[in-house]
Amino acid sequence: MAPRKILITSALPYANGPTHLGHMLEYIQTDIWSRFQKLRGHEAYYVCADDAHGTPIMLNAQKQGITPEEMVAAVSFERQRDFADFNIKFDNYHSTHSEENKALSSLIYTRLNDAGFIKKRTIEQLFDPEKSIFLPDRFVTGTCPSCDSIDQNGDSCDSCGATYSPTELKNPKSAMSGATPVLKDSEHFFFDLPAFEGMLKEWLHSGSIQEEMANKLQEWFTDGLQQWDISRDAPYFGFEIPGEPGKYFYVWLDAPIGYMASFKNLCDKSNLSFDEFWAEDSKAELYHFIGKDIIYFHSLFWPAMLDGAKFRKPTNVFAHGFVTVNGAKMSKSKGTFIKARTYLEHLNPEYLRYYFAAKLNSGITDFDLNLEDFAQRVNSDLVGKVVNIASRCAGFITKKFDGKLSDTIMDQTLLTEFQNASESIANSYETREYGRAIREIMALADKANQFIDTNAPWVLIKNEETQEQAHQVCSLGINLFRLLMVYLKPVLPEMANNVEAFLNEELTWESAKTQLTSHEITKFKALMQRVEMDKVNAMLDDSKESLEATTQAVIDPNSPLAKEPIADEIEFDDFAKVDLRVALIAKAEHVKGADKLLKLTLDLGGETRQVFAGIKSAYQPEEIEGKLTVMVANLKPRKMRFGMSEGMVLAAGPGGKEIHILNPDEGSKPGMRVM
Ligand code: MSP
Ligand code: ZN
Repeated sequence: MAPRKILITSALPYANGPTHLGHMLEYIQTDIWSRFQKLRGHEAYYVCADDAHGTPIMLNAQKQGITPEEMVAAVSFERQRDFADFNIKFDNYHSTHSEENKALSSLIYTRLNDAGFIKKRTIEQLFDPEKSIFLPDRFVTGTCPSCDSIDQNGDSCDSCGATYSPTELKNPKSAMSGATPVLKDSEHFFFDLPAFEGMLKEWLHSGSIQEEMANKLQEWFTDGLQQWDISRDAPYFGFEIPGEPGKYFYVWLDAPIGYMASFKNLCDKSNLSFDEFWAEDSKAELYHFIGKDIIYFHSLFWPAMLDGAKFRKPTNVFAHGFVTVNGAKMSKSKGTFIKARTYLEHLNPEYLRYYFAAKLNSGITDFDLNLEDFAQRVNSDLVGKVVNIASRCAGFITKKFDGKLSDTIMDQTLLTEFQNASESIANSYETREYGRAIREIMALADKANQFIDTNAPWVLIKNEETQEQAHQVCSLGINLFRLLMVYLKPVLPEMANNVEAFLNEELTWESAKTQLTSHEITKFKALMQRVEMDKVNAMLDDSKESLEATTQAVIDPNSPLAKEPIADEIEFDDFAKVDLRVALIAKAEHVKGADKLLKLTLDLGGETRQVFAGIKSAYQPEEIEGKLTVMVANLKPRKMRFGMSEGMVLAAGPGGKEIHILNPDEGSKPGMRVM
């Protein structure tokens, strides 16, 4: 078979937070496939990149007081370390915020525009008048237009499940500032997706598309394809649209182009030809591994963009389901929102690679990571079956036969059966039926163990006359183990690496056609420890803590937060009970006999309140008279030695000279509510 040219991608992770085990399902699934193709001798490349752009990343960086570039760099560093430690082997890892991606995005946009596939239209959108920014759906909250539940998202209601546009929300609020959004016109750019309907239908039938995906797409076609809004207004972290100042590409426009950009970056570092993989008439294969949540982008927008801009389309798009832990959605409070790093601190990455492989198939149903089952499966299959074969045979070879395998393998039946399984197992990997591949491999492992049990080399070895027989049995055992490791190498690269050192041989898929005779092996070392539930539980405990730690990691030990941690979470309703008002300090006076208090007369724009405030150590009355501050206006009045105190003014600081009264910004008026 002539080597195929294959380009493989995983979805580009948002540079916006830590890698978790849900992500890892995808990168492990893809890595196994990529390693498998390479092991078979094909010319395969696995590329990925950070998805750097978009509003959430921009705002997150702002919140941390750093530039988006700095944030992307920090997240990327951690992310790549996570991937490397899980033995994910990319041929290239790049970023969508790169020169290559900018150039390719411009090129594709320009070609689409020249061909008449970009339309401009003015749309009305919610705008935050305080932050001067158009609000993405998820940054608007309000009351559900169908069931009147308060505090719902801009696109759908958690309470009744209704979907709507953010402009339909009652009493909408900007999640960024709390301001009431206003409707504002803006010119947007649309990609003419409906123009590609015929092409898409044909493309979808050209490959062997997953059944569930075909069904989804059928629904979308029935609903009718829509023009796709590809522009966003400044401020936005992304690429400015060529010739359109202040307009940016929506993150999902340049994100998949990031696949090309990462490959381009690889081509420029090696002597690969970009066109050979991306030109319209490319004979190379192109596969995207993605989660089921982003099928729409990859099987409609992306092929249409490529087609319209005269590039090749993907050979296929492979979607997978979502990871659940112990039967439920990953949860921060249960500790089942497990970060890749937390896992690595407790457990061997190859356990997870194996468990994912053992249960994966080509469908898009969700994947349950059941931790008991995980431990049990790894222990019984890998430790109990596979490693057991080698550990029962290797010692005798080393001690009794100078580390050398027998000259011939006399009983070829079992060996041939193992060799003949090669194509069927390969076919299972190729079709992403990893679970089936693993079942086939473990059935062989069972046979190898039975063979050793039946022939009991530990008995044969004791007797002069049967020693040669023991040599035969153990040599065959090692050969069977070797074939199993060929088949498991895509899943367990690290263990395969150690086995290669033990066997003195590099394993490729072709190795399955050969056998080792008169071959010297090295001393056997333990290949894999059992999974201990203690460690699994420690990982869960840490997962609860590590989430707290992520918020604390950035806190300097001398900071106010370190001295007084943020209080327990409250419901919005609890907060809304507190009526905070802007107040004018109309009068401030010393109180006879009180060494800490000042008596304040607060003007709420009509009503006045008398408040005794413990701020004398920091303020002279004349310093604050005439200033605006914020008070709790609905606090139950309290009788003090000097009179009634009818509320509280807000101040920050530990005490003494370090007390700072809050000042509302210019423009606020006495009596205004603070939310
Ligand atoms: N940035 C986009 C992809 C752009 S591709 C041109 C994105 N990023 S992501 O970080 O949210 O997700 C990266 C991949 O991980 C996606 O394929 C997503 O489906 C997958 N997963 C995220 N959480 C997951 C689980 N809990 N389970 C399985 N896969 C999950 O989407
Ligand atoms: Zn509702």
